Amino acid sequence: MTVVHDNLEDTEAKMRAHDVNVFYGSKQAIDSVSIDIPQKYVTAFIGPSGCGKSTFLRCLNRMNDTIPAARVEGEITLDGENIYDPKLDVVQLRARVGMVFQKPNPFPKSIYENIAYGPKIHGFAEGKDELDAIVEKSLRRAGLWEEVKDRLTDSGTALSGGQQQRLCIARAIAVDPEVILMDEPCSALDPIATAKIEELIADLSGRYAIVIVTHSMQQAARVSQRTAFFHLGKMVEYGRTSDIFTNPLEQRTQDYITGRYG
Ligand SMILES: Nc1ncnc2c1ncn2[C@@H]1O[C@H](COP(=O)(O)OP(=O)(O)O)[C@@H](O)[C@H]1O
Ligand SMILES: [Mg+2]
Repeated sequence: MTVVHDNLEDTEAKMRAHDVNVFYGSKQAIDSVSIDIPQKYVTAFIGPSGCGKSTFLRCLNRMNDTIPAARVEGEITLDGENIYDPKLDVVQLRARVGMVFQKPNPFPKSIYENIAYGPKIHGFAEGKDELDAIVEKSLRRAGLWEEVKDRLTDSGTALSGGQQQRLCIARAIAVDPEVILMDEPCSALDPIATAKIEELIADLSGRYAIVIVTHSMQQAARVSQRTAFFHLGKMVEYGRTSDIFTNPLEQRTQDYITGRYG
């Protein structure tokens, strides 16, 4: 059972997970997790390494489908629609629910192509001018345009780590997502690049529902409004970020935030 704080204002749920279990073979990694992911908020998932944060995050855009041993049970909806419906187009789902990984993973293509690829395959642009406009808008929104506008034909992999991560965020934004999932997006970055990504998350929140996994409690406190604490595959506690960090209700949450484990 998850302890959910009772002082949460009513918010529109963009996504809803109900009683989700995940198994890798016979090993259970997620145990009966239910959560509403609010629209226009940043939700942080925290907890010790191996507690299932990435596994649960991957449920939200069916990335676990790509892991043969993984089996997901329970219900997850996006705008009320079951995302595990066999009739659902998974490619389209992953455009609506974009993902940014721990290690920046630009395609080994030009900066321009990294952004243009998604809108092209999803048929978002009528011609070159429209595509150019989407590329510029996405890079601007990701705070990268000024740094790359004169080198759009350079390889995405030639950028610095922090720029690559912003490129990956721009790539996610380019297909007009509704939710952005980020799995420890700053853990490979230096403090300055990290600060830029955090600023970017603040800029983007309000426009998208964002879920970020982070092992940095300071980061969770800086960027999120809601926090869920995971432990051993269970979601132990969920509430306003400020309350989770200053006034946790569960001993296990208290132990984690005071550095007793993890
Ligand atoms: N592809 C996989 N195959 C088998 N077990 C996995 C796989 N990915 C994760 N696990 C296991 O599931 C549990 C949760 O892992 P994970 O979701 O990566 O945790 P976290 O992101 O919180 O560190 C761990 O016990 C981990 O070893
Ligand atoms: Mg992880």
